[in-house]
Amino acid sequence: MKIVLASSNKHKVQEINDIVKGSGIEFVLPPDTFDPEENGKTFEENSYIKAKAAWDLSKTWVLADDSGLCIDFLNGKPGIYSARYEKTPELRIKRVLSELGDEKNRHAHFSCSMTLLNPKGDIAFACEGVCEGVITYEPKGINGFGYDPIFLVKGLNKTMAELSEGEKNQISHRSVALRQVLNYLNSLG
Ligand code: IMP
Repeated sequence: MKIVLASSNKHKVQEINDIVKGSGIEFVLPPDTFDPEENGKTFEENSYIKAKAAWDLSKTWVLADDSGLCIDFLNGKPGIYSARYEKTPELRIKRVLSELGDEKNRHAHFSCSMTLLNPKGDIAFACEGVCEGVITYEPKGINGFGYDPIFLVKGLNKTMAELSEGEKNQISHRSVALRQVLNYLNSLG
C-alpha cells in the first residue's frame, strides 16, 4: 500500500520508511507543487493543513505530521515555532539555552501530531506521539538534527544526538505516533 507523506523532506520519508520497513506500506513524496502555508495554532492544526494540501494534489491516502520541541519553563515554546525560532539550527539551540539560563526546571518534550486522510479526503485517524526529556546545559552528540544535541532522553543518559538512527527510531515522538497509525492501518486488514 502506497501512502503520500505530506512533506517535501526526503530525509523524513526515508526515516519513516525505515520505521515501517516490512509492513507492506511505502511512503512516497507528493508532487513538487506541494507547498502549504502552515498557519495553524497547534501541531494538530498544522498537521491537518499539510494533509489536506497533499490530498488536494493526490486524492489518495495521505499521512501528514507536524512536530516540535515544547519546554515547560518557556510555556511550551518553541512549540509550533520550532523550525522558525531562529535562522539556523545552531542559533535555535543557542537561543533555547540562553532563554533557560541556569533554570533548574529543564523538563521538555518533543511532540508529533499525525493526520491520516483516506482517499475521500476524510480524517481516517489522528494521533499524537510524545518523547519526554530534559534540556542539557550544552550541546552533546553529532547525530540527528534540529534540537537533538540538547535533548537528554528520559530514562537514557544520552541526548537524541548521541543515539544511532535505529535507537532514535525506537523512542522518538515520530515513531510513537507512527506506530499508532500502523496499528490503525493493520486493523483495516
Ligand atoms: P517538522 O514538523 O517535523 O518539520 O519539525 C519542525 C521542527 O521541530 C524541526 O525543524 C526541528 O527544529 C524540530 N524537531 C522536530 N522533530 C525533531 C527531532 O526529532 N529532533 C530535533 N528536532 C526536531
